[in-house]
Order: sequence, then C-alpha cells, then structure tokens
Amino acid sequence: MPFGQAEGHFEDSRRYAMALITFSNPAHKDKTVYAVACSHTDTLLKLAKEHKVPVHFDCQDGKCGHCMVRLTSVDTKGRMGYYLTEEEKTVLRGLDKLPQEEIDQLAVDDMPSEWRLACQMMGRDEDILVEY
Ligand code: FES
Repeated sequence: MPFGQAEGHFEDSRRYAMALITFSNPAHKDKTVYAVACSHTDTLLKLAKEHKVPVHFDCQDGKCGHCMVRLTSVDTKGRMGYYLTEEEKTVLRGLDKLPQEEIDQLAVDDMPSEWRLACQMMGRDEDILVEY
C-alpha cells in the first residue's frame, strides 16, 4: 500500500479531522491507520495495539521508556507543537534522548520533540510517521 493511504475510507479522514499515522519498523511492513484527532483517549500505543502493530511496551504509564518512538511530520499543513508529559520529560532525559535545554527550547518555540513515549502521546490533527 503506498504511503499516505490507509485501509478504509480516505475521505473520512478529512471530514472528521482524523490524522493518518504510519507505523514503521525495518522488521515489519509499514502500517498506516486513522486516528481521531483530539480524542484525548487514543494514545499512539493504544492505536498500535488496536491495529496489531508490535510497538514495544511494558508499564503503559510513562515510566519505563520501552515504548519510545521517533516521530516525523509528513503533513502538508506543517508541524504542530505537541506538549511532553512530565513522565516523558523524565524518561527521555534519563535515556539521553532529550536534554533539559532542548526540552526548554521546544516549549519556548512550541515545537514537537522527535522522541516520544507511545503510551503518553495523544493523536492530533497531523499526519505523522512513527518509527518504533
Ligand atoms: S510503556 Fe512504559 S513508558 Fe510507555
């Protein structure tokens, strides 16, 4: 399936402010799924599990870092700011992925971090590539 085309009804993704999320891993076939934007309940990990994408996880509570993913915006509207949860800041700092200076700068610039925890991040109205 070409990048940017998900299974189902493509037009629905625009009518209901849905985002296309493509999960990618060299060991698996890419999978693109829909996410309802701003649902405030659908984390990336929940979406991955629903669509049988084998993203690693353990605690599901922002503590262990096993679900760390790298994000890239592939949306023509441009990048959106995503706030990091306090748990993500702590874990990503501990994994040497995101120093405090960078966390501070992202907040000032309202820019997203390329590293996130899939169990903490909620979908937004932005098409993204998720490397896991
Ligand atoms: S599963 Fe442990 S931090 Fe996400």
